[in-house]
Amino acid sequence: MGLALIVAAAGAVSAQEAGAVKSMAVPIPTELPPGELGKVVALGRDIVNNTSTHPLSRKYVGNSLNCTSCHLDGGTDPKALSFLGVASAYPTFAPREKQIVTLEDRTLNCFMRSMNGERPPNGSEVSVAIATYITWLSEGYPVKMSLKGPFGPNSQPSLKIDPATADAAHGKTLYAASCVSCHGSDGAGVGAFPPLWGAKSYNSGAGLAQNLKLASYLKNAMPLGNPNLSDKDALDIAAYVNTQTRPKFVLEEHLGKRK
Ligand code: HEC
Ligand code: HEC
Repeated sequence: MGLALIVAAAGAVSAQEAGAVKSMAVPIPTELPPGELGKVVALGRDIVNNTSTHPLSRKYVGNSLNCTSCHLDGGTDPKALSFLGVASAYPTFAPREKQIVTLEDRTLNCFMRSMNGERPPNGSEVSVAIATYITWLSEGYPVKMSLKGPFGPNSQPSLKIDPATADAAHGKTLYAASCVSCHGSDGAGVGAFPPLWGAKSYNSGAGLAQNLKLASYLKNAMPLGNPNLSDKDALDIAAYVNTQTRPKFVLEEHLGKRK
């Protein structure tokens, strides 16, 4: 997404270096709306934070991740795959599929790939609650379709670094120093910390399975609480993590029972 486009859209935008995430001066909502709407927003938040165990969503999840494992703090961390403002970019045109993509469709995609699970039906309680929660987190953002496809205003651009320079062996050394305490030497995660590879991780069709997307995410989000990696180190670690085994993505296996 072009910075110029964002800057033109709203005065209160601070543009940062390439690969970093722009943030807008829109307050993060804290008070739930009254009545039934508030209940649906709260349900969506609960599902985002407990996707793999929540009774409504767990049947659609094929690994041990929750949406918040990647979309940190329930999607409210402006730097780590934020949900803030995302609804303002949908429905939008997806150049690859030549289709209009709704927020609901976009959300359900992550179930098939990042969650290695099944696509919940459009209009299901899970799908409606998550889309309502994300819409609540988008109040105050001006409606703005992305020219690049289905991406919200706080989505992370891929890191601008030559992917051919990736050094997975160096990444392994860095991983042992900075990641192993939480994610384990076998990548399976330690205690409540989530896996980075293996049977319980995201599949090969997920955004993070692409080195430049994972590298960008790592720069913004990891090590948790203290993201401090250089571009090159982030790329090297991404290359190491993504050369490990993970579930293979076969589209037909993830479409679910369509309504
Ligand atoms: C393994 C990490 C991971 C998990 C888990 C995950 N996502 Fe995502 N999600 C991503 C990435 C990466 C992107 C950006 C897509 C891309 O660049 O391909 C994304 C994009 C999105 C978007 C579009 C954001 C935008 O700016 O347009 C939505 C909505 C979304 N995810 C919802 C969810 C929901 C809901 C869940 C839980 C059911 C979930 N995601 C689980 C990694 C993840
Ligand atoms: C202090 C513990 C800690 C350290 C150190 C740490 N992480 Fe994480 N990481 C987490 C937690 C916790 C989450 C999930 C966030 C949540 O659930 O709130 C996470 C999520 C992730 C995710 C997205 C979810 C998934 O499992 O795929 C990736 C990728 C990731 N970490 C990679 C790394 C890498 C690479 C390093 C080293 C540079 C690293 N982390 C260092 C704790 C840590």
